[in-house]
Amino acid sequence: MRMYDIIENKRNGKELTGEEIEFFIKGYTDGIIPDYQASAFCMAVYFKGMTEKETVILTKAMANSGDIVDLSMFGNLSADKHSTGGVGDKTSLIVAPIVASLGAKVTKMSGRGLGHTGGTVDKLESIPGYKTTLSGKEFISQVKNVGMAIIGQSGNLTPADKKLYALRDVTATVDSIPLIVSSIMSKKIAAGSHNIVLDVKCGSGAFMKTLENAEILANEMVKIGKGCGRNTAALITDMDMPLGSAIGNSLEVIEAVKVLKGELDNDLKEVCVALASELISLVLSVPHNEAQKMVNDSIDSGKAYEKMKEWISAQGGDVSFIENTEKFPKAEYSCDILSEIDGYITSMDTEKIGLASVILGAGRECKEDSIDFSAGIMIYKKTGEKIYKGDKIATLFTNNKSSLEDAEKMYRSAACISAVKPEPKPLIYKVIR
Ligand code: URA
Repeated sequence: MRMYDIIENKRNGKELTGEEIEFFIKGYTDGIIPDYQASAFCMAVYFKGMTEKETVILTKAMANSGDIVDLSMFGNLSADKHSTGGVGDKTSLIVAPIVASLGAKVTKMSGRGLGHTGGTVDKLESIPGYKTTLSGKEFISQVKNVGMAIIGQSGNLTPADKKLYALRDVTATVDSIPLIVSSIMSKKIAAGSHNIVLDVKCGSGAFMKTLENAEILANEMVKIGKGCGRNTAALITDMDMPLGSAIGNSLEVIEAVKVLKGELDNDLKEVCVALASELISLVLSVPHNEAQKMVNDSIDSGKAYEKMKEWISAQGGDVSFIENTEKFPKAEYSCDILSEIDGYITSMDTEKIGLASVILGAGRECKEDSIDFSAGIMIYKKTGEKIYKGDKIATLFTNNKSSLEDAEKMYRSAACISAVKPEPKPLIYKVIR
């Protein structure tokens, strides 16, 4: 078999065979197929697409390019969630303990933040002592005993994706649906969970800016997840404004604790309840309304909050910070953003707001940057809310005083205020099962 013929077949719009796709993935992972041929292959896929059958084979081949986590000891109870990334998205910190408190076995590997989006691993590292690296044995033992563990991506999982994603990043082939689907789903398949709920974000702070594209991606990911033998569902949720009120690592942990303590009833809680209910319905095979009742009961009874403390403590975190969130160090400098006019917040450019938090030190522009855990933004007024001149719409926090001016400019340019009240938009656009 020759890579040249595989590229030519795809360029001519032919459906590739399993052997051809597997030949490419193995050859590229092993360093036998060079980057220039892999680039040509990705570009051919970008223009000609892939059938569902091809995408399933590509996903499985990428998953099999490295280790596959064996979770068979948990039967059908293993559960994972994945978000396509957003601003203020701390749902994993809330959904995981809720579903673990109801009997699911949550085995989650999370990423770090990059660019305008945050990452769960950074948020967890803001809790003193929390270990984001566990050995395979420790990971499984914690999931057995506590019902959940969240760690950083580790081990030799999907090396094919690591190489291909880096290549796509520099060859203008990231935004190809079969390549995105196989990239995300191969990682989920390799991570081993039987039940997967995907949170596909849609809007100005998301990878998918339009509902149409988010729907195509969500439908494909669900089909491919099922095609790989996993129970898979997806929610398409709004990212046209940040989720919840907090952006920034320890600020987001504090907000997550408040939701689990039943102290907040906001958009964040609504999305978390929907995601957790979907997962519980898959894991325990119960109807959705029953799953939702179980999820709400777990929050209201304090079970989910207790589970969070048990998990943080099992993973080495200082649980006194969860019990008393005032213990989190505060940023040295802050700046209130006050409205200069009366009106409504009509839109929030969420990517820009995420970038404002990066300027403050809450995120990183490139992989090597370090993070200021206490930096970030608290938002008091969101899209659709009435405001009066002088109202506080947000507060910026940082330990780098010189960043405040640029971050304020960025925030002000992102939050549009006008006299006309905008039409409300759904928070959860669609559920795909
Ligand atoms: N996230 C991924 O992991 N892969 C993609 O291709 C796009 C987003």
